[in-house]
Parts: sequence; C-alpha cells; structure tokens
Amino acid sequence: LSELELLTSEILASPKYGRLCEDVIRHVGAVELRKRSSLKGAVKATKGKLHQIAGSYLDARLDYGGWLEQLRVADAPGSFKTMCRSVLSHQSSTRERLPLIEHFYAETLDSIAPVESVLDLGSGLNPLGAPWMPLSSNAVYRAHDVYVDMTDFIREFLPLAGFTGEAVCCDVSQLCSAPASHVVFMLKCVPVLDQLDRSATSRLLDLIDAPHFLISFPLRSLGGRKKGMLKTYQARMDELTSGKQWDIRRFEYPTELAFLLSK
Ligand SMILES: C[S@@+](CC[C@H](N)C(=O)[O-])C[C@H]1O[C@@H](n2cnc3c(N)ncnc32)[C@H](O)[C@@H]1O
Repeated sequence: LSELELLTSEILASPKYGRLCEDVIRHVGAVELRKRSSLKGAVKATKGKLHQIAGSYLDARLDYGGWLEQLRVADAPGSFKTMCRSVLSHQSSTRERLPLIEHFYAETLDSIAPVESVLDLGSGLNPLGAPWMPLSSNAVYRAHDVYVDMTDFIREFLPLAGFTGEAVCCDVSQLCSAPASHVVFMLKCVPVLDQLDRSATSRLLDLIDAPHFLISFPLRSLGGRKKGMLKTYQARMDELTSGKQWDIRRFEYPTELAFLLSK
C-alpha cells in the first residue's frame, strides 16, 4: 500500500474523521505527506487540517436519524421551522446566523427572488435554512459538503421541506463540473477553501454556469473575537472580483459579511 492509502485508511478508521469523504482526506493527506518525512506526522497534520476546515464547526453529537423523525412528524409549518432552527444550532456557522435568519436570505436574495435553483457549496447544515429563503415553489436545491452522514441527512431533508434536489459528498475545491444554477451559495466557505487551495474560489466562479453567487465571510472567529476580519475579508473579496465586470451588492451583519455577485 502507498503511504497515501495507509494515511487515508487510518483517518477513515478514526471516530472523528471516519464520516468524511475520501477525496478530501486524500487531497489534504497528499499535501501533508509531501511536506513531511514520517507517515505519523502526516496523519496528525491531516487530522489537524480536517479539523480546521470541517470538524471545528460541528457539534460532537449529531442525531441525524432523530432529527429526521421529528421533521417528518412536524406537520404544522411553525413546528417544522422550529425543528429546522434547532438543527441549525448544531453547527457554529449556522448557529451564528440564527439571530439574522428572518432577514439574511430575504435581504441578500431579494433582487433575484424567486430563486429557481440553488447550488450550496460547503453547505453544512445551511439547507435547513430553506424555509426562510425566497425560493420558488418548484425550486431545485443542491448541496455539497465533505461529510457522508450530513449529506445523507440533507438528501432526506429536502423532500420534507418540499424541494427536489440532491446532496453530494465531495471536495468542492476539486470540482470539475457543476449543474447550471440560478444562484451558487458560498456561505462562509471561501476562507475554508483558501486553506486547501487558494485558487479554488476563482476557478469555481469561472467554472460554474450561474448568473449569481452569494458569497459570505464570518465576522467572528470561533473564539468569538473580531480580529480585523472585516478588513481582511473585504480585501479577499476585492481580490476575487478584481478586473471583472460583475455587479456586486454588499450586506453587512454583526456576524457575517455577504456579497451578491451577479455576472
Ligand atoms: C464555515 S462552515 C460553513 C457552512 C455553511 N455554508 C454556512 O455558512 O452555514 C464550512 C463548511 O464547509 C465544509 N467544507 C470544508 N471543506 C470543504 C470542501 N473541500 N468541500 C466541501 N465542503 C467543505 C465543512 O464541512 C463545513 O460544513
């Protein structure tokens, strides 16, 4: 077995990283193996990077099966939304958006509503925010993330919320094709992709056939402090859009800086 295969199987066997898709482990693992002489060191560094890009945002206990059962029996729209809120509180990125949930999607997507199709990259649990999004009644929602169990859950959730679509487990930094979509969400996703491949976001902006991209950045670190994040991420956005004739609308919230980019 090659060192990369040994590293991948060791990481897949660990309880914390065993639900990640193989292509992201191989991507990070190959980079770490090139930097180090020992397999042990590369396994440790790969786990560290996977924690930074994915594990750090998610709660340790995630009862996907129990949530689906509760969503299935939530017959009134109010109780379905209450259950969605509860699920959204299990990932820090969506938890921070809860105080804004009544405004965030309504305001950022207002100019393109009703939205016909969404491609949600690095979606996390964000598809559970669909009941607050100005989507058309027959909207198609597609979500991509690196967790097998999370994408299985989202796939089951979508029809319960009244949407068709799919959830795919993959490393979006290596995406080579994507379905044409009305809007692509890259919510708090660029800083994560930058850690894997700093050219990935610009490549995705050029690659995906979509007239609109909703891109956002966190304005609070996981530790809770604002460390010049507004300035840093505004600069990153300026860099991504430099030289492009794109229309950009900017939305600033206490915990999130969002841009609706229209090609
Ligand atoms: C900061 S969270 C943002 C989640 C969601 N977009 C939101 O704003 O609420 C980053 C998400 O990207 C996912 N992720 C990290 N690296 C990824 C990759 N290479 N491909 C797809 N998803 C990735 C993580 O699992 C996590 O759910």
